[in-house]
Amino acid sequence: MRIAVFSAKPYDQTFLTLANEDKHHELSFFDVRLTADTALLARGYEGVCVFVNDHLDTSVLHLLHGNGTRLVALRSAGFNHVDLATAEQLGMTVVRVPAYSPHAVAEHAVALVLSLNRMTYRAYNRVREGNFSLDGLLGFDLHGKTVGVIGTGNIGLIFADIMHGFGCRILASDPFPNPDAKAFIEYVPRETLFADADIISLHCPLTPDTDHLINEKAIDQMKPGVMLINTGRGRVVDTQAVIAGLKSGKIGRLGLDVYEEEEQLFFEDLSQGVIDDDQFMRLTTFHNVLITGHQAFFTDEALTNIAETTLENIDAFESGNGTLHRLV
Ligand code: NAI
Repeated sequence: MRIAVFSAKPYDQTFLTLANEDKHHELSFFDVRLTADTALLARGYEGVCVFVNDHLDTSVLHLLHGNGTRLVALRSAGFNHVDLATAEQLGMTVVRVPAYSPHAVAEHAVALVLSLNRMTYRAYNRVREGNFSLDGLLGFDLHGKTVGVIGTGNIGLIFADIMHGFGCRILASDPFPNPDAKAFIEYVPRETLFADADIISLHCPLTPDTDHLINEKAIDQMKPGVMLINTGRGRVVDTQAVIAGLKSGKIGRLGLDVYEEEEQLFFEDLSQGVIDDDQFMRLTTFHNVLITGHQAFFTDEALTNIAETTLENIDAFESGNGTLHRLV
């Protein structure tokens, strides 16, 4: 089957090519994001394969459908970037990779917690400059602290497990408590979690209910100096509100792997140009903010699983046999 692979970085090409070795689909790699302007590249391809910042809104889906595309294969678990209702209307099949390595994302969230707590990113620069002062690097013991986990699916449960290993008390909020949650996880109302947690980590998907879930009102309810971690989706956090929270000191430390306007920034080398997102640039000025560019998923294991499941999806669509991780 002919597949146009969008947002194809060198690492995507490597892992997808390897997973395709015994399957022999025709994969064409395009470095560009899929937009209304680039959809023409997919003309004549029965399938497209896309990542999180490829925006499949109504107009893009209509263009793809007009090109002859019938299959949209997401290389992600999240699908908030696809208009599923339109895809269904057009009779297009949308598949995803439901879980590729929840460990990768959970462990990255923990990396943000540890780095922010002990300010290792500041210490790294200081030591390289011969500055061995400890002033400004004061952390706290994780042992005995309360961690709030919002969203206890695949990733949230693993994050909770690791933090419990440090000796933390674990509170959780989820409209659908997970039957696999271990006994140490205390499900509480969201307000209780906000009020009691020293560290809050977001592991819910982006939905109308979670859109700007962390807003001014939520931040007001949190403990002074709270640490907030977001490896979920950018729009779960209202950036303006967290900037205000950082300025007032209410938010003591902020770790982000996702950002609400990341589509314009992440996955590209913009270091030769001028970044005109003032909100993002403001975030980078705080010493107690650590941002990574949507790299939580980026492990060898995760990329292998993403590539293999994507190729299995394509196989199953073409042959009508096997597991199709279908959204519509
Ligand atoms: P999952 O589907 O296993 O779990 C999501 C959980 O969130 C479910 O238990 C669900 O009931 C819960 N949830 C839904 N609405 C909620 C709400 N209003 N409040 C609290 N909880 C709510 O998903 P998984 O695999 O654990 O992934 C979680 C999210 O992590 C994904 O949706 C995606 O946005 C993000 N992600 C980020 C990556 C990265 O590289 N930064 C990579 C992979 C996923």
